[in-house]
Amino acid sequence: MADIAVAMVGIDKAFPGVVANRGVEFSARWGEVHALLGENGAGKTTLMSILAGLYRPDAGQIHVDGQPVTFHSPKDAIEHGVGMVYQHYRLVASQTVAENLLLGLPRAPFRLSARSLVREVRELSQRYHLQVDPQRPVWQLSVGEQQRVEILKTLQRGATILILDEPTAVLTPQESEDLMRTLRQIAAEGRTVILISHKLEEVRSVADRVTVLRGGAVVASGQPIESLSTRDLARLMVGDDLPSSRVAHGAPPGDEPRLVLKEVDGVDARGLPALRRVCLEVHKGEILGIAGVAGNGQHELAQVVAGLRLPTRGSITLDGKDVTGVGARRMTRLGVAHIPEDRLGEGLVGNLPLADNAVLKSYDQPPLAWGPFLNLQRVVRFTQMLLERFSIRGARPDSPTRLLSGGQLQRFLLAREMALNPRAIVAVHPTRGLDVAATLQVQEWLVAARDDGAAVLLISEDLDEVMQLGDRIAVMYEGEIVGTMPAHAADRETIGLMMAGGHKKVAVS
Ligand SMILES: Nc1ncnc2c1ncn2[C@@H]1O[C@H](COP(=O)(O)OP(=O)(O)O)[C@@H](O)[C@H]1O
Ligand SMILES: [Mg+2]
Repeated sequence: MADIAVAMVGIDKAFPGVVANRGVEFSARWGEVHALLGENGAGKTTLMSILAGLYRPDAGQIHVDGQPVTFHSPKDAIEHGVGMVYQHYRLVASQTVAENLLLGLPRAPFRLSARSLVREVRELSQRYHLQVDPQRPVWQLSVGEQQRVEILKTLQRGATILILDEPTAVLTPQESEDLMRTLRQIAAEGRTVILISHKLEEVRSVADRVTVLRGGAVVASGQPIESLSTRDLARLMVGDDLPSSRVAHGAPPGDEPRLVLKEVDGVDARGLPALRRVCLEVHKGEILGIAGVAGNGQHELAQVVAGLRLPTRGSITLDGKDVTGVGARRMTRLGVAHIPEDRLGEGLVGNLPLADNAVLKSYDQPPLAWGPFLNLQRVVRFTQMLLERFSIRGARPDSPTRLLSGGQLQRFLLAREMALNPRAIVAVHPTRGLDVAATLQVQEWLVAARDDGAAVLLISEDLDEVMQLGDRIAVMYEGEIVGTMPAHAADRETIGLMMAGGHKKVAVS
């Protein structure tokens, strides 16, 4: 058909240990914004990286404008008009916007005067309402501006099929709206825009048609957006099969909230708002599961509770005592354990022996310390006890920590944190990357800690895990807690909808 800009047929792609795309059929028309929707890990980036010439498929064909094509590199793809704006920008920080646009141009750069290039950039940026100053060095630009440069660069190279990978993840709401207008304009000129997204509202507002991937396969193919409700989209994304609950839920919370956050605001590493008026309570003997798509403030939430990041507003109390801004050391002393997502960065020091890591948080307290001295014998015995109790085989107190496997590292980290008999635990993606056995073990420990009375804040991208372990479930979206519900009242569809920002459109029953 003449109006088909791109067709991908029977695309398979596997990485070691994971099938990212299986038998994918995808097609987009000229003049449309086509959304590619799916949860984290659904295979969206992989599929589009194949279309953009970054990866070769294991099987399948690609047709651009009716012609079969084989791309060996992104350069091949752009020569056929296919250009992709990745999630991580690839600009040279020390150079100006104009110089960046010049880089890699097929034309010999000396034929282009700096002035004509600047003029060209100005024209493009005005035409598409992509405001940037061509003479500014890239390091001075905000993330939104860098993204505009990437889009300009792709357009200038002649992209007629423009792919954007979750472009609004790094933008403010205002910047996102502006970008959506630009995308509509590009499509109105007859080009094709493929927008990778997991945000339902955004897809609904801008796309003509939508393809949904789940687990690497297509579950909806080029459906007109009006034909699907936000609920339909959420169901397609997350699937409607409820997970079987492996772990019994705890008693309903008593009236004693142990950990309380009131109206907490916080910023991310770049100083941008990441937490907005977060209010939550975790009771003794309760697991509060936080569901959400990565990057919606979960990381900052964990850091704020662990004392690693100061809230910019609001308060945190532990058993009624104000602990706002007391810092990580004090939080540990007060009995707040932290299972960070980055085990070897935030959690453990890879180059130190296990024994040193075992006492990283408690070396200055009895019984390990006696006055200013560390009792080395006790440290070694304590480490041995952790290794035995948590069945970390083949490791000794003097083994370098970095030699442990991922599962062993996580068990060791948990062992250390549990040994503090925590009153509260903040666990971030505690089972990510673990095999099934280690996953079950880690989950059982968290449940055991809860049953011993700890208040557990469980942050996970794995919705199944949140639903299996959480006694209550809260959903984070764009730095806000957009809903909290008891586990027995939670269903995947409603949560999926809230995770994708659809809560504003659909009332939650
Ligand atoms: N370069 C890679 N090496 C190994 N595994 C990968 C690579 N890229 C993606 N994957 C895996 O392939 C699956 C699909 O990933 P991706 O295409 O990035 O999904 P999405 O963009 O929908 O979040 C995931 O399980 C991911 O871990
Ligand atoms: Mg992706």
